[in-house]
Amino acid sequence: MKINKKTKVLLMCLGLSLLVPAQSFMTNPYSRKNSELLNGKWNALIDVYCMGELAGIFKNKQQSTTTKAVEYTFNDGLRLDVPGDFNSQMPELKYYEGNVWYQRKINVTKTDNCKQFIYFAGSNYITKAWLNGVSIGQHEGGFLPFQFDITKIAKAGENDLVVMTNNNRKVDFIPALNFDWWNYGGITRDVFLIETPDVYINDYKVQLKKGSQNIIAGYVKLEGATAVQNVEVFIAELKIRKKLTTDNTGLAAFEIATKPQLWEPSSPKLYDVKILSEKDTISEQIGFRTIETKGNKILLNGKPIFIKGVSFHEEIAQRMGRANSDADAAMILSEAKALGCNFVRTAHYSQNEHTVRMAEKMGLMIWEEIPVWQGIKFTDETVMVKAQNMLKEMIFRDKNRAAIIVWSIQNETVPSAARDKMLVGLAKMTHQLDSTRLIGGAFDNVKYDIGTNTFSLNDSLINYVDLVGINKYMGWYEAFRVDPSQIKWNVATSKPLIMSEFGGEAQYGQHGKTDTPSSWSEENQEKLYRDNLTMFKNISNLCGTVPWILFDFRSPNRWNKQNQDGWNRKGLVSDKGQRKKAWYVMKAYYDGK
Ligand code: GCU
Repeated sequence: MKINKKTKVLLMCLGLSLLVPAQSFMTNPYSRKNSELLNGKWNALIDVYCMGELAGIFKNKQQSTTTKAVEYTFNDGLRLDVPGDFNSQMPELKYYEGNVWYQRKINVTKTDNCKQFIYFAGSNYITKAWLNGVSIGQHEGGFLPFQFDITKIAKAGENDLVVMTNNNRKVDFIPALNFDWWNYGGITRDVFLIETPDVYINDYKVQLKKGSQNIIAGYVKLEGATAVQNVEVFIAELKIRKKLTTDNTGLAAFEIATKPQLWEPSSPKLYDVKILSEKDTISEQIGFRTIETKGNKILLNGKPIFIKGVSFHEEIAQRMGRANSDADAAMILSEAKALGCNFVRTAHYSQNEHTVRMAEKMGLMIWEEIPVWQGIKFTDETVMVKAQNMLKEMIFRDKNRAAIIVWSIQNETVPSAARDKMLVGLAKMTHQLDSTRLIGGAFDNVKYDIGTNTFSLNDSLINYVDLVGINKYMGWYEAFRVDPSQIKWNVATSKPLIMSEFGGEAQYGQHGKTDTPSSWSEENQEKLYRDNLTMFKNISNLCGTVPWILFDFRSPNRWNKQNQDGWNRKGLVSDKGQRKKAWYVMKAYYDGK
């Protein structure tokens, strides 16, 4: 998108990024006036050998008596729920990796001077789509939205939508060939048919200006504008009705002096915000807060905070499938609130907007991350571009969410010249895109010195993050060599540090000795938690704890038949929702904080 010089200067004054992210989707589909959810049962086909595209099944040809037999049909066959990973919908698909095709009819009104889009909130991992047999686009990546403009292809009335999804893992994907979660595939999140005016509100940012608690700064960006347009930012409760004029690319930046009640976990204040243009209107709820570091402290609204966190995957353990709705979000987040949390780590990828928006409403700060998890092909330039796009799209989607305080760029990657180059670049890009939030990273490469019983970390990447996350499983992957109270930490002491992962496995209801992880007992997990909390007292720059993990979760890498059987049992809560003894250790710790 071209930005003229005057706007560039204005954006720089506002500390706004010049890198307005590459938009491959519009902001906030949930508040669009003319948007129809296409959720429900779709016809489906399992294309194990991935031959369907070659066979042209996107044409959805109907059998006619005069032609040769059509060797496929979407009608009268498999039906799959959308949203929903396909793995959890049929026993035969539990371990499936390959092509699954979806098909449904959509009814399109062709209003004059309007545009139509198909918007996917998420689909894993490769998605291709056709309308009436004509390709409308494709997307790579499993955890962020994308949209296809169907204005020129859609007919008035009934249209045939065919979507191919593929979840095969590849070395140049993000995540790549191996990761410790289930490779759920398919149309895993909401799908919308959205009609907009030809000149519509594509994007907007409404947040506090960096370093200020009484100036709201941001922009409104129209798509389709070729001349200046009138737009308005309306926040009734703050008596704000800011009228603006865009430049001829549709961009209007603003600064508004005001004194909002600040969002914080104990009072997650959100304001009704309305964005209006000459032909379009969007309303939503937005909170205002500041987040920064000062020395080795984290300051929320200028005051030091201690992060009482927990991680979770985007999964509902009971149905062994991806979470994808408000109801799912409420189930997961209410358990985090019950634990006494003020923070959640939405591991290890951008989770769906229902979860992000509900966490904000419930007063839970968020660490959000792109799935740069362990073994990524850092030497491949195309992988770097993919990581950059995922970062831009994550920030583009969630930049108005006050609850998000950390954008994290990596989890447990191994230092190398290529890894440092890519991740330093991502850290710098994060700062350019959004200087108002913290840059985070989760590091598992701390080193223990037996002579001094001290942990240290030698990784130049910590110089480029604001918040150092440490993943360390003392008592599980590594035994305590001395009493936990004797262990010292000398890790990034000039910066705030959180224990972004710690814990160990236990089978709910399995009881036994406390000194052998192989017992997989609740008592061993309970003692492990107590020992870690004792050790954490010696971390001078500790600003928070984020146990791994809230619920037992599915992983193909967990083969211990008796104790795991495809489950990672590090949950504080079992896959059936039962709280283990360690849950109560963390509850007491957070209540005492
Ligand atoms: C790692 C990783 C997690 C994984 C965990 C484990 O730290 O970040 O994704 O699930 O360890 O081994 O359970």
